[in-house]
Amino acid sequence: MLSTLSKTISLDFARMASTVTIKYPGVPDIAAAVGERLDKVLKEAVPGFKNSCNGAAVCTKCMVSINTDHLSKLPPVTEDEADGLEDVDAEPNQRLTCQINVTNDMDGLEIIA
Ligand code: FES
Repeated sequence: MLSTLSKTISLDFARMASTVTIKYPGVPDIAAAVGERLDKVLKEAVPGFKNSCNGAAVCTKCMVSINTDHLSKLPPVTEDEADGLEDVDAEPNQRLTCQINVTNDMDGLEIIA
């Protein structure tokens, strides 16, 4: 019983402490905590990065371009994100970071602009 509890606590701690590396032009590699909203991660790491509507998917200030080879690392576009992207005629490799939570699959993600 104690062994099982100990193993469970260790796994939960490992999950909480999990980070992935994200690349963004002009700044050192970013260590992003799994589960964090990507725009918040970028706002802390990238000088001048804006997320003006704080995740409402309406300002598009948090939009970034992704290396096309890395698009599969991201979760699918939600309906709210699609609406925001459509409003600015976004390119297929552009995403609203406020609509994306960091996942383990995003390790090595390259944002190109
Ligand atoms: S913060 Fe406004 S659209 Fe993402």
